[in-house]
Amino acid sequence: MLLWVLALLIFCGFLWNYKRQLKISDITDKYIFITGCDKGFGNLAARTFDQKGFRVIAACLTESGATALKAETSKRLHTVLLDVTDPENVKRTAQWVKCQVGEKGLWGLINNAGVLGVLAPTDWLTVEHYREPVEVNLFGLINVTLNMLSLVKKARGRIINVSSIGGRLAFGGGGYTPSKYAVEGFNDCLRRDMKAFGVHVSCIEPGWFKTELADPVKTAEKKLALWKHLSPDVKRQYGEGYIEKSLDKMKGTSFENTDLSPVVECMDHALTSLFPKTRYTAGKDAKTFWIPLSHMPAVLQDFLLLKQKVELANPMAV
Ligand SMILES: NC(=O)c1ccc[n+]([C@@H]2O[C@H](COP(=O)([O-])OP(=O)(O)OC[C@H]3O[C@@H](n4cnc5c(N)ncnc54)[C@H](OP(=O)(O)O)[C@@H]3O)[C@@H](O)[C@H]2O)c1
Repeated sequence: MLLWVLALLIFCGFLWNYKRQLKISDITDKYIFITGCDKGFGNLAARTFDQKGFRVIAACLTESGATALKAETSKRLHTVLLDVTDPENVKRTAQWVKCQVGEKGLWGLINNAGVLGVLAPTDWLTVEHYREPVEVNLFGLINVTLNMLSLVKKARGRIINVSSIGGRLAFGGGGYTPSKYAVEGFNDCLRRDMKAFGVHVSCIEPGWFKTELADPVKTAEKKLALWKHLSPDVKRQYGEGYIEKSLDKMKGTSFENTDLSPVVECMDHALTSLFPKTRYTAGKDAKTFWIPLSHMPAVLQDFLLLKQKVELANPMAV
């Protein structure tokens, strides 16, 4: 009996795997739109999908980013300048994309643009520190999606939202984690609302990858700037040695993930599989630590995450 159950499980696993490998037929007539293509994941995605034969519309934040990308890609790829936080810019871009794609509609929308903002203890921050990551990562993503939605519905296409392990587990103070938790919520509502239209919505949760966004030196510099403006009272609670120790920890971060391609492979599967997944995890750290930990009890999460923090000298001095 046990043997039969085992055989059935193996057969189901085989079928599941086979189903995941089935691909859509033609990609050369399909348009995809990617935000944040100047650098990082977005840049690699634009180049990869251009090479594969997709009709890529790559949105860059800067003129120099767009020019550099254009120089490295085929004539098929179009660039457009887009700041996702500028509603007029988003509206105009969506109208322009509509003219480009015509009756075909938009097969893929990859919401990738993002910023980290500051990463620092919550009691060092003001609400202003939360605005930039929330504006870019959340409202920007929502606005681009809403403006492109009718085009994706026309193609019965795919929407791919780049979230983060920070959308599953709060690893540090600042606007990044709240913005990514909210992206996950938006993603899940959108997925259910779009099902009837044949639009698949997927979310990608990368771990820490070596890109400009995650540059530990820049992150440490921003933290130091905050420290310099703290009141003497708060500095006393943290202790004079705190900032050096915590900056050393940050700068000493070694990335497990230097190759960005696992994230683009997730985007690829979400775009080209007949049965895309609802969630993708990319990066060794995400698969072996962050995502498993996100399913654990809060007491264990707190224990492990607090162990990585520098101890405060005098927290009772309030
Ligand atoms: N790297 C990681 O460890 C990691 C982990 C989890 C999730 N992610 C997510 O992955 C996505 C891509 O990040 P990345 O690591 O590839 O970072 P990146 O190299 O800094 O790329 C981010 C891109 O977004 C663009 N951008 C910034 N603000 C924008 C705005 N207002 N409008 C339009 N574009 C804007 C940037 O343009 P400029 O370069 O011109 O500023 C850049 O091209 C983000 O959503 C991020 O949250 C990253």
